[in-house]
Amino acid sequence: MSPVTPSQEFRAYVNARETRDVLRFITCGSVDDGKSTLIGRLLYESKLVFQDQLDRVEADSKRHGTQGGALDLALLVDGLQAEREQGITIDVAYRTFSTGKRSFIVADTPGHEQYTRNMATGASTADLAIVLIDARKGVMPQTRRHTTILALLGIRHVILAVNKMDLVGWSRTVHEGITGVYCRFAKQLDVTNVTSIPVSALTGGNVIKPSVEMGWYHGPTLLQALETADVATDRERAPFRMSVQWVNRPDAGFRGFAGTIASGLVRPGDPVLICPAQKPSTVSRIVTADGDLACARPGQAVTLTLADDVDVSRGDVIASPTKPPGRSDQFAGHLIWMHENAMLPQRPYLLKIGTHVAGAQVTALKYKLNVESLERVAAKTLALNDIAYCNINLDRQIAFDPYRELKETGGFILIDRYTHTTVGAGMIDFALRRASNLTRHAFTVDKPARSVQKNQKACVLWFTGLSGSGKSTTANAVEQRLYVLGRHSYVLDGENLRHGLTEDLGFTAADRVENVRRIAEVAKLFVDAGLIVLVSVISPFRDERQMARRMMEEGEFVEVFVDAPLEVCERRDPKGLYRKARTGEIKNFTGIDSPYEPPENPDIVLKAGERSADELADQVIAYLRSRVEM
Ligand code: ADX
Repeated sequence: MSPVTPSQEFRAYVNARETRDVLRFITCGSVDDGKSTLIGRLLYESKLVFQDQLDRVEADSKRHGTQGGALDLALLVDGLQAEREQGITIDVAYRTFSTGKRSFIVADTPGHEQYTRNMATGASTADLAIVLIDARKGVMPQTRRHTTILALLGIRHVILAVNKMDLVGWSRTVHEGITGVYCRFAKQLDVTNVTSIPVSALTGGNVIKPSVEMGWYHGPTLLQALETADVATDRERAPFRMSVQWVNRPDAGFRGFAGTIASGLVRPGDPVLICPAQKPSTVSRIVTADGDLACARPGQAVTLTLADDVDVSRGDVIASPTKPPGRSDQFAGHLIWMHENAMLPQRPYLLKIGTHVAGAQVTALKYKLNVESLERVAAKTLALNDIAYCNINLDRQIAFDPYRELKETGGFILIDRYTHTTVGAGMIDFALRRASNLTRHAFTVDKPARSVQKNQKACVLWFTGLSGSGKSTTANAVEQRLYVLGRHSYVLDGENLRHGLTEDLGFTAADRVENVRRIAEVAKLFVDAGLIVLVSVISPFRDERQMARRMMEEGEFVEVFVDAPLEVCERRDPKGLYRKARTGEIKNFTGIDSPYEPPENPDIVLKAGERSADELADQVIAYLRSRVEM
């Protein structure tokens, strides 16, 4: 038998999603708790395992199994896992199996350090979670962590599998004790639907068949609980939402909007609203590869055509007009951080919600959640696996629903702008209306008017480089030349501004992000005022320099890399700061114990280690002259 390929696995997953009685669940717990053995047991007993895999496990069990030659089911799951890890990059593998009563999709979430990330990915589509506990250890910090994440992700059904009952003498007292502790914790999170089952994944007791040893237990076995859990999907009863994945326009005669239905039902003739623009229309046809449909359900991939020629693009949400989604560009919500690089407030990220992608910044970190005690703690940044409540600003309006009402249109991910990796996942709580009553007043004397008056085109010369590289000295020399030429200019010097505008900021990564953001905002105003602005600031991070560029109009931002090697800057050490940084007297010093990310595509590179400030200034002026405006 060939290993399960991702496409087969994925297709099985999609197919199962389309059939009706499917239970999606995830398992939380570590290998030590017996997670692999438990899933292995479920797969084995539901005959999903292929014979040749079994043969291999049997051989492996004899060789290096932990069960003295008996079948080690953990090897089965771990084997599948290793197979997958070779070629598949998705973190979460979906495995499907069925019994006579139901089909199941288990999101298998391997990994230890990345558990939050994997759990969040798996749990976002799950209806139920099996939380595994080692009966000898009871409720552990990780049990609380997992449960907190589950609750945040809107999972309200939990099966508490108290495993390894064989190792605690099948003790009823132990089981009841653990159940009590767990239920009290879960209740604080509003997780009240808990079925606690004492099991032994090793012997199979209460997994599929009732355990002979635990005659005192009268509840369902694990499989029965899975088969009967009442998670009747509310997705169909929810208002209609479909996020447009692409606009299908094969010829002038056909224009369809393709996507997967997130919630609700849709039929030809249904009135709809195109959001966030909120333009009304009516569904004409529901087109699929297998012909037109009279009705489409959540999970189905379809192409809708509309009766009107309304403007619809990728990322728009086609929605029910009676219960339309909200519309905003500012939110409060939970954020789960999934990356080694810290989340820095004000850093520009991309936010993806449905098929829509927008620029996003976390504007305020309200608090970080201690996932074990549920205490709220103050935080300036977020580290891997942190969970926080925060405010988020977008660069445009989006259509959304609060996550607790509709997961599909209320959940989002944050993406790093450079690497395009997913760095966080979030749940929208509500829209913030802080800026909703604000508009912009257009003043008559505007940028073009000032440009005529000053006879120059405003721009920003953004000098970036290490401390001591010569940014300010060069900016000074450039400004002198501009002055002689009759140009109107102003220098925003990072260090000078730290005596006022940015006096509250230090040199942590988070503070530097805010430092650059503020200076860029001021530079933007000065450009609007018609000036040639010279910004001299280390600005060590690419993301924020890019953000500054995006804030200006095309051609207004000139990135000047003042490129002097660290050795040269350190030798110069005009303020004696490198020496202090080397002795540890000052912390977070750029180039020493804080990073500097050189520009990738600077408009001007100044070889500041080799040339004088006057030569460099001439180079900048020559660049400006080569542009039409000088
Ligand atoms: S930035 O990194 O936030 O862009 P900024 O340009 O405003 O820095 O300020 C840098 C100046 O502050 C340096 O030229 C140096 O004189 C001084 N300074 C003091 N402490 C530090 C530090 N830890 N790292 C870098 N510069 C420092």
